[in-house]
Amino acid sequence: MTSILVYGGRVIDPSSGLDDRLDVLIVDGRIAEVGADVSSPHGARRVAASGLIVSPGFVDLHTHLREPGQEHKETIESGGRAAARGGFTTICAMPNTEPAMDTAAIIDGILQRAEDADCRVLPIGAVSKGRKGQELTELDALRAAGAVAVSDDGDAVADNSLARQAFEYLSDIGIPLAEHCEDPAIAQGGVMHDGAVSARLGLRGQPAAAELSIVQRDIALAEASGAQFHACHISTEPSLHAIADARARGLHVTAEVTPHHLWLTHDVVAGSSEDLRYDTNAKVNPPLRTEADVQACIDALAAGVVDAVATDHAPHATVDKQCEFDAAAFGISGLESAWGVVNSLVEAGRLSLADAIERLTIGPVRAWNLDQGELRGLGTLQVGAPADLTLLSTDAATRVEPESWASMGKNTPLAGHTLTGVVALTISQGRFVWDGREQ
Ligand code: DOR
Repeated sequence: MTSILVYGGRVIDPSSGLDDRLDVLIVDGRIAEVGADVSSPHGARRVAASGLIVSPGFVDLHTHLREPGQEHKETIESGGRAAARGGFTTICAMPNTEPAMDTAAIIDGILQRAEDADCRVLPIGAVSKGRKGQELTELDALRAAGAVAVSDDGDAVADNSLARQAFEYLSDIGIPLAEHCEDPAIAQGGVMHDGAVSARLGLRGQPAAAELSIVQRDIALAEASGAQFHACHISTEPSLHAIADARARGLHVTAEVTPHHLWLTHDVVAGSSEDLRYDTNAKVNPPLRTEADVQACIDALAAGVVDAVATDHAPHATVDKQCEFDAAAFGISGLESAWGVVNSLVEAGRLSLADAIERLTIGPVRAWNLDQGELRGLGTLQVGAPADLTLLSTDAATRVEPESWASMGKNTPLAGHTLTGVVALTISQGRFVWDGREQ
């Protein structure tokens, strides 16, 4: 029997409304007891948590791990380590790998490769073969192999009839279609948000309407089929209004926002100094938007219109970013700065601490119904739940320094920014996977 006692911390578990100074006992990889003055079994490893928040481990619905095919950008192993450092104990891996995760065999391979990772990896299958948007994958076989959702992320399922077919099949299969909401006919290859900054920089812009067009279509298809539409990385105010309205009508529509869309505007693309114009690390899809959009994302997150903060961790090699803006890859590496951004919003009074933790734990678990079978209790600190937890500081200021990250992707426009909040320690399935207190 191996046991760990985490004692003296402020335990916050939004699944039950718990917020108290308590001890947490872990035995053999499961939560065994949460209470005051829990006695520590003989031989237990003791972790002092005073001054720290004890939270369920974070759950990320949207991570790019690049394996198979682009291991020079990230591997399951390096991404798992980055997750642990960021406080994440479960991450959902997007299928835009090479080849795409479009067969049961590839999904199975990911699960096997992930067995030794520092966090749990739940695969997402592709909607279309090769993510080409032409022919559906065997959606039920992907689910049977362990896919928790399907997505062609990186691209929308642009073809309306294919999207309709996918929703119809998924209504029986019972997993969500996680949509990258970008209508290519409206986005027209835009490399940033279409607005004042794109006009000034002379870059092709993609308007908010490109996002709204797919959001509205998928709400209609979810309503017609009864299947779940999950809106990935929503970035604009009009889309959030449409999602709020669909949810108010009782439709099975869920949504996520990313830390970068909660924190940065399109101004960042113009760079921060004479030396840095056209910051390719700020090139991301969907693009960074206006101040009004950022505020709308925060408000929707606080109001619960958005279920989850998801990182859209998109690591790229330096060569993919050190080039002309038009040629640069889209994406921001985000696992290791997520808590700093979310907690900085708490510091700024925009979100309660309990809600911030909710949107990183039980919020995403409920959105995708992930707490089934072995994963019962996922995203909580309830007795019997998997022993996934993270210890957080809420007041330590830190500079974002991607050079020191575990992720191979150093691509973030937040480099050099100061955020408040540190992930001090992470335990995943009863294993110590990160101890920042040693640093
Ligand atoms: O910026 C992005 N990067 N958006 C996506 O949808 C895909 C992602 C990637 O895979 O790099």
